[in-house]
Amino acid sequence: MAALNFTSSNSIANVFSVDTGIVFAKVNDLDELRRLQVNQLIAIQSSKAGQLQIGLINKITRKAIDLDTSLDDEIEETDISLLNSENLIKVTLIGTLFDAIGTETDVFKRTIDSVPEIDAECYPMRGSDITSFMSTISRTATEAEKPLNIGSYSIDENADAYLDGDKLFQRHAVVVGSTGSGKSWCVARLVEQIADLDNPNCILFDIHGEYSTEDFKKDGISHFRIANPSDLEKEQKLSNNILMLPYWLLTYEEMLAMLLDRSDNNAPNQAMLFSRAVTENKRNFLEKNSENEILGSFTIDSPVPYELDKVIEELENKDTERVDGARGKKNGPYHGKLTRFIQRLQAKQQDKRLGFLFDVNDDELRMKWLEEFCNFLMKGDQKNGVKVIDFSEVPSDILPLIISLVARIIFSVQQWTKGENRHPISLFCDEAHLYIPEKNVTDSISQIGLNTFERIAKEGRKYGVGLIVISQRPSEVNKTVMSQCNNFISLRLTNLEDQSVIKRLLPDNLSGLTDVMPILDIGEALVVGDASLLPTRINIAEPEIKPSSATVNFWQEWGSDEITQDLENAIKSLRMQSK
Ligand SMILES: Nc1ncnc2c1ncn2[C@@H]1O[C@H](COP(=O)(O)OP(=O)(O)OP(=O)(O)O)[C@@H](O)[C@H]1O
Ligand SMILES: [Mg+2]
Repeated sequence: MAALNFTSSNSIANVFSVDTGIVFAKVNDLDELRRLQVNQLIAIQSSKAGQLQIGLINKITRKAIDLDTSLDDEIEETDISLLNSENLIKVTLIGTLFDAIGTETDVFKRTIDSVPEIDAECYPMRGSDITSFMSTISRTATEAEKPLNIGSYSIDENADAYLDGDKLFQRHAVVVGSTGSGKSWCVARLVEQIADLDNPNCILFDIHGEYSTEDFKKDGISHFRIANPSDLEKEQKLSNNILMLPYWLLTYEEMLAMLLDRSDNNAPNQAMLFSRAVTENKRNFLEKNSENEILGSFTIDSPVPYELDKVIEELENKDTERVDGARGKKNGPYHGKLTRFIQRLQAKQQDKRLGFLFDVNDDELRMKWLEEFCNFLMKGDQKNGVKVIDFSEVPSDILPLIISLVARIIFSVQQWTKGENRHPISLFCDEAHLYIPEKNVTDSISQIGLNTFERIAKEGRKYGVGLIVISQRPSEVNKTVMSQCNNFISLRLTNLEDQSVIKRLLPDNLSGLTDVMPILDIGEALVVGDASLLPTRINIAEPEIKPSSATVNFWQEWGSDEITQDLENAIKSLRMQSK
């Protein structure tokens, strides 16, 4: 028995005009027209037996009463005149329901390989039809052992909405919505289910420390933070979940982006001598540790430890060098040309806020350190599969560089892992507009960060690295990265510019769906993409673990007779640069 059984008596309209993916149907009875709603599901008789075409009502138009009836005879081609002349519905086709494929009955597919014929019957789905259709959908989507359930469909609260976890993470996804629309909760809903799997592997970049509170704890999630000034003295940082990112991980370009002032006349000399000194010191390190294999083929960008103090020493020598000349001693060729560069380097080195980069101890200057670091961040395992990294104490001017550094290390290690040994990893990029920006970036720090993410967006799929781009301003997120994303979870978006970005990324025939973006409820999302069988509205279920993004109630707080304000400690934290 098929999930949906319609006969001619259920038909309320007949197909009138067909386009690829869009169907206009004439509704004969005005009362039927009145009962229809935009976004309602419609089944349409297919030209093939055993199939129904499924679509969503996009537009409902009643015949304009005062329309000049003489026009009825010569209906023009344009939508407008067509819409004015009849009681019409415009339907976006979204898939096909098959009575059976092979031994499986009631199978819904997102393919539309035959379009309805003119005059085909249209059946509205109501009540029990919706429920049985939805259960068909869920059945196909729940084949995984632990299916990814994100909430329920807005059109039928009783039908659970599942996403295809493979497709969602394979080819990148986007979570967008205005501030307070429920993005972080949506992420929490995804993350808590990921954490329940046997060997999950993902990293969540936590920019504001929202996911790093007590409320966001459960088995399968581990929390790291980038070392703050008061962490620097601690031993065994990694095993205490404190992350250092030693300067020797930075590539030549990344290092120069931080240190070089390109407007300085001596910039080329500075860059050249710096690169020479770094290469030399990396070589020394490898020799001292008898890393003969690596010695033959390392480059300046290889993540090999070196002593920065030695590099500074060598640069200082060049900067003050005196050489023999025809008439006694004279200044060396680089005399005084490196002073500004050395000063900048030393200033960074002494900046406590950058201690996680430069205040490196012997433990962090070992070859093995990188392996231990990756073991913490990239191992898929049951207890610590989801890694939340708190970046809230990283200075905002270098945030793009630091996040992309972590992303780049993960991507490169993954790239150099043999295919059969690779465990897929997903990067959740919250507040992505901050470090994957669209604006023409002028500073080299942001540019370098961007290159890394563009690369992951384009090539990540091949190496099992997926991106989840989360932002309240999709129009400020890099277009190249966005255009590589195949799944969209769009919560309420009020800004026109942001809406149009999402509209442009959706397939043409679905762009009508996006009209609901500004009127979605909190926690309600328009979900489109290959991970979702049905492009539709979903009420995202409340996560068990909650990010601490709680909205402040100004009026209530101002009206209460108790206040818990603590300025003294705030100022102390500001001075110490740690909470
Ligand atoms: N699925 C949901 N069900 C019920 N309430 C929700 C849901 N999602 C969000 N909310 C409510 O909205 C508030 C804000 O949600 P959230 O922090 O996820 O917003 P956001 O989109 O991440 O905002 P921002 O861009 O400022 O980070 C939550 O504290 C919660 O009260
Ligand atoms: Mg948020």
